[in-house]
Formats: sequence, structure tokens, C-alpha cells
Amino acid sequence: MILVTGMSGYIGSHTALALLNAGREIIGFDNFYNSTAEAVEAVKKLSGKDFPFYTADLRDPDSMEKIFKENNIDAVIHFAGLKAVGESVAKPLLYYENNISGTVNLLKLMEKYGVKRLVFSSSATVYGEPKTVPIKEDFPNSTTNPYGSTKLYIEGILKDVCVSDKDFSVALLRYFNPIGAHESGLIGENPNGIPNNLMPRICQTAKGIMKELTVFGDDYPTPDGTGVRDYIHVCDLADGHLAALNKIEKESGVHIYNLGTGKGYSVYDLIRTFASVNNVDVPYKVCPRRAGDVPVVYADPTKAKEELGWEAKRELEDMCKSSWDFVKDK
Ligand code: NAD
Ligand code: UD1
Repeated sequence: MILVTGMSGYIGSHTALALLNAGREIIGFDNFYNSTAEAVEAVKKLSGKDFPFYTADLRDPDSMEKIFKENNIDAVIHFAGLKAVGESVAKPLLYYENNISGTVNLLKLMEKYGVKRLVFSSSATVYGEPKTVPIKEDFPNSTTNPYGSTKLYIEGILKDVCVSDKDFSVALLRYFNPIGAHESGLIGENPNGIPNNLMPRICQTAKGIMKELTVFGDDYPTPDGTGVRDYIHVCDLADGHLAALNKIEKESGVHIYNLGTGKGYSVYDLIRTFASVNNVDVPYKVCPRRAGDVPVVYADPTKAKEELGWEAKRELEDMCKSSWDFVKDK
């Protein structure tokens, strides 16, 4: 069975569904810090399958040990973590404790129960400000905020574990910018409060919750002056986890993959496509650049294609439409 941590979250719920649809058995857990049990019920409904789900916390090893005791776990896909860059700057210790200590707690239980396969949610943030694009997996790493540092430290911890135990296998998946939602409209991303990321902010603007979108800078050295990113549909990302799981079930050691499309879209591309496919207005105003933002980030996803047989298939139009279908009536 596959243990999915952070299962009720945005990427966890889509990956859980993909695993179930591929005939895998799963167990989920979450502490509902940034999600609700609604997503768990939706995944059961969409897959037509039941699975054990626990309320447990990475920081509370006893709550996690119950899961290891009661189930026969073969591998872990580890999504649970805090992910807000600004919050991590304000509360670094919360991030180090939750993400790093929490992962160490999980790894200690995996060691105790002989579980030696892990897929980890890393991020393109570990490339810092890349000197060139597209970004390959062997580009240098750096971070500019505590959130990014937790990803880089955890990658290092997992590499050390693989050195200490030659049977251990890890996939470090560096996601680019996940957006979109499952076509059913039953699972997706709907953050509480004022979100930081572009797509949830476009959605809130289209709904009238935000009066207008702030475009953070139109003076970047890009074709239209706005920042360029590699937006990837969350369902493509979910499929990438299945492919990575298949890989680490066959081969031990550390396997690092960029999960992106290889295409860069600007802020204006997103606004324009979202407004046109959904037939809504997205009023915006141009503001100064956001501190810490880089002009252009997109992946070279060749390694994932060659070694995992995985590539992103869905287009920007699908990403914009499904994001809106999920939130428009909420
Ligand atoms: P999310 O917040 O929707 O999901 C994370 C889940 O983990 C939430 O349901 C939350 O309640 C849970 N969680 C947090 N701390 C926990 C703890 N101590 N114990 C148990 N559960 C806990 O975020 P997401 O977008 O699905 O991201 C999943 C993973 O992917 C995270 O590790 C994130 O850092 C990483 N990631 C996300 C993005 C992105 O843009 N969404 C990009 C790169 C990497
Ligand atoms: C951000 C984080 C990154 C994290 C990722 C996923 C920062 C500096 N980086 O990446 O560490 O891994 O989210 O959670 O926070 N934009 C606007 N207006 C907005 C919001 C965004 O113009 O209201 C622009 C940004 O300047 C950027 C693009 O949209 O050019 C994408 O921004 P965002 O969705 O926040 O993602 P990243 O900055 O790439």
C-alpha cells in the first residue's frame, strides 16, 4: 500500500485519485492545516473506492506510528508541508519544524517499519535565480527564503539516507507552477484568505473577491515585460508521481526530476487565456515588481520523459478552464 501524506491537499488529492484509478491501494493522512475532509470524500466518490484515512500530524510521531502499525506500507508519497513563501519569512521556525523535523519523524518511522521508498514534493524554488533557461536537474541550487530552504535541506537529508542504506530509493520531484483542477470540478485549489499565487488570485479577481489583480512588474526582459513561468496542470503532475513511483520501485538511489511542461507563459498570457476561455473579466493594474521574483523560469523536462516515460499533455486553456470550474460556484 502507498501512504500519501498531505493527501487532502491540492496536489495530494489529485495524486491519490490517479493512484486509485491506476489500481493502487492507498492510505491517506493529513492534519487539515490547509485542507478539509471534503477532498477525501471527493476522491472516494470519483474513484468509487474506499481507503483508510487518518488525521495525523508529521510533528506528532505517535499519531503517525498508528498508521504504520495498522497498515502494510510499501512506499510513501510525501506531500505534507507548509508552502507559503511570505509566511515562511515571518515564521521560519514553524517552517523548519513542520517541514524538516516532520520529515525526519516520518523517515524514522519508515526506518523502524522497513519502508524504503519515498517520493518527495520538492520545488523549482531550489534553483533560486537560474542563470539560463530551460532549467536542467543539474543546475546549481540556492534559495532565497525559509520555505525554499526546507525543500533544499530535505533533499539533502534524503540523499544522506540513500547513502546510508543502499536499498533505499527516493524520487525528488521538482514541481514548476501547478495550476488547474480535476475535470469533475470536485477537487482543486481553493486557498483560504488572500492567496499569494497568480492563478488563485486571478480566480478571486474574476469572482469579484479582489477588485483587481496586481501585475507584479511589466518591465522584465521578457516578450511582454511580465514574468514568465512554467504552468503545469495538476493532473499531469499527479501522473508524474505514478511514473516516479514505478521508477523507484525498480531502482534504488536518488532520482531527481523536473516536472514541468518546458513552455513558459507570461502573466499577461494567463490573464488573457483565462478571460477568454471562461468568458469573464479579469481587471488588473500594473504595480512594481514583487521582491524575490525572477524574470523567467521554465523547465527542461527531457529527463522525466526519457527516464520515466512521462510528459505533460494538457494545455494552458485546460488549466484556466478547470481552475475556474472548480472555484466559480464556491
Ligand atoms: P497543500 O497545502 O494543498 O497540501 C499540503 C497538505 O499538507 C495540506 O492538506 C496540509 O493540511 C498538510 N499538512 C501540512 N503540514 C502538515 C503536518 N504537519 N502534518 C500533516 N499534514 C500536514 O499544498 P500542495 O499545493 O498540495 O503542495 C503539496 C506539496 O508540494 C507541499 O510539500 C508543497 O511545498 C509542494 N509544492 C507545491 C507547489 C505548489 O505550487 N502548489 C510547488 C512546489 C512544491
Ligand atoms: C511562488 C514562490 C515559489 C513557490 C511557488 C509555488 C515566490 C517568490 N515564489 O512561485 O517559491 O514554489 O510560488 O507555491 O513567492 N504574479 C503577479 N501577480 C500576482 C501574483 C503573481 O503578477 O498577484 C506574477 C509573479 O510575479 C510571477 C508569476 O505571476 O511572475 C507567478 O507567480 P506565483 O504564482 O506566485 O508563482 P512563483 O512566483 O513562480
